[in-house]
Amino acid sequence: MNDSSAGFVFSVPYEIAVVRPLRQTTLSEREDALKAAFYNTELIRQELIYIDLSTDSGVSSLSTGQLAAFTGASGLEPGMGLAAEGSRAFQSLKEQFHAIFGFPYVVATTQGRAAERIWSKLHVKPNGVVAGNMLFPSTRMHIEMNGAKVVDVISEAAHDLASAELFKGNVDLTKLEAVFREQGENVCCVYVELAVNSCGGHPVSLGNLKAVKVLAAAHQVPLFLDACRIFENSYLIKQREPGYQNRSIQEIVRETCDLADGLTMSALKDLLVPMGGLIGARDPASYQKAAMQGFLDGVQPPGSALEMMSVALREIFAAESAVACRVEQVNYLWRRLNGGVPLVQPPGGHAVFVDVKKFLPHVAPENHPAEALAAFLYHMSGIRVTRGPPAAPSQVQRGVELLRLAVPARKYVQGHVDDVAKAVLYTYAHREEIKGLKKTDKPGRSKYDPSYFAPV
Ligand code: F0G
Repeated sequence: MNDSSAGFVFSVPYEIAVVRPLRQTTLSEREDALKAAFYNTELIRQELIYIDLSTDSGVSSLSTGQLAAFTGASGLEPGMGLAAEGSRAFQSLKEQFHAIFGFPYVVATTQGRAAERIWSKLHVKPNGVVAGNMLFPSTRMHIEMNGAKVVDVISEAAHDLASAELFKGNVDLTKLEAVFREQGENVCCVYVELAVNSCGGHPVSLGNLKAVKVLAAAHQVPLFLDACRIFENSYLIKQREPGYQNRSIQEIVRETCDLADGLTMSALKDLLVPMGGLIGARDPASYQKAAMQGFLDGVQPPGSALEMMSVALREIFAAESAVACRVEQVNYLWRRLNGGVPLVQPPGGHAVFVDVKKFLPHVAPENHPAEALAAFLYHMSGIRVTRGPPAAPSQVQRGVELLRLAVPARKYVQGHVDDVAKAVLYTYAHREEIKGLKKTDKPGRSKYDPSYFAPV
């Protein structure tokens, strides 16, 4: 709790109302589970997991208000249909969305990637160029599927895992200027991801975003945001950027959005729901086209999903410490491990990232050190971690190997986090026992296809 002249501020703005019991597994059960999953922790059956840090997406605990929205009559009411405006749930979400993010128009989708697909289709042209700051793979792929090229303009610090730079998600303005100079009319948009997932959940500062906006506006190019972790980004701005300490999260969120011409957002992260994506638009034409495309693609969420997003938005901003509580839990895990284990510096908003090359210098890259580390950790503890998003092209070039400990918001208590710290520190102390894995099949579907492994 924080002391204040008005009394203490609650650290945790909720209590646990419903729980899912977990069964203690044995070492030999976990060995069998690993064999059955071809040593790929992504494939281990859910009931054999103790703590799941594979993602923070769509796995947060629901509030009693969200559960009521989910099981109540709203799911049975008319859904979005062709004219979303007719739906009561949509109206409620629209009001919340407008009040918090300031965009006059919103289109709801089933997931973030559906929002990106629609938005890219509208704003990315064949042979065009999009400047982005290490965009999430699905965003990049949707841009590429529309025939354009993504040029990465993230700061060099994003690739320096040991750098303590506080805003590693920032755009390198010199690189952005070069894109405008070299690509001219071909530049379709600048797409900035907040709290950049792939490099460590590192924030983008408002100072940087303002400078990006000035450059983009000078070239009459729109600035779009991937805002799925905008609350975490805003909290880190409040903590780290001079001049923002006395501003509320809501004010910072609004100032961030005011710089953008549009946004796409997966609601599965900061909005604490298992389904939902959002597009924020400023012009009616983009809104109408996006709404029509969502209708044609069949990615309109049911009324209950709209209600759950709208309840989440109301609740998050009703509790002073909601966002702080979430980010500080990630920060606590980072502090428990930092110094004992090689971590990406400094802490980010949604996950702790392990620098695998430093953790396992004796395991060659072709022996899949990240997956081998994850398999050892699971075997010892039942805790699941995975690599997280497939590496960005610039990370592949530099041979960066990360393992992501993604902390779902509002799901685990401090005892869980302490157990994670204990298990990861144990794994580091026993790292010589980790020999690596060999791949036994080739991914078929795509780079997202989970591979099969065997011990070397
Ligand atoms: N943008 C970012 C930054 C993301 O992290 C994700 C998903 C998406 C877009 C796509 O949203 O899943 O709703 O379609 N990230 C998840 C993760 C999968 O584990 O990091 P979605």
